[in-house]
Amino acid sequence: MRFLLSFTPIIVRAVLHKEFVGLRSDKLLAVSVAVAALTVPVLAQMGGPFPDEQVRKGAAIYSQNCAPCHGPRMMDSQVPVDLRKFPPAEKSRFLASVVKGKNQMPPWGDLFKADEIEALWAYVIAGEKR
Ligand code: HEC
Repeated sequence: MRFLLSFTPIIVRAVLHKEFVGLRSDKLLAVSVAVAALTVPVLAQMGGPFPDEQVRKGAAIYSQNCAPCHGPRMMDSQVPVDLRKFPPAEKSRFLASVVKGKNQMPPWGDLFKADEIEALWAYVIAGEKR
């Protein structure tokens, strides 16, 4: 994501640069739309931004089910894992660990629907950093 984001201003500058002055504004618009279309799915895939409602839903599920081990609001964890530091780029690992369990952590796949696990992901990645 950082890669694409850091390139976006360069692309925008290139578009505004004199080489492109000959282009008509509808073409400039098309380029901007293409850049945006490339950036948005990458942002979504990398884990944010999340709708507030989804984060709140995840927080509620978390406080009922995960807080006993991982600590209220992901602080004072009783287990040697700090969820606030879970890497946003490793969503598939999060899903696998939560659904199937990992070592001392029980599996949650039978308890929660897919959208509830998505809400947990939203909370873990975005929740307490807001
Ligand atoms: C019974 C205690 C317990 C509960 C309840 C619990 N966990 Fe865990 N969790 C653990 C332990 C222990 C680990 C460390 C597993 C390991 O790496 O050995 C862990 C690890 C994790 C990890 C890191 C997995 C990885 O791939 O490194 C995630 C993510 C996680 N838990 C999410 C959750 C979520 C979300 C919930 C609530 C639905 C939850 N946990 C509830 C004990 C618990």
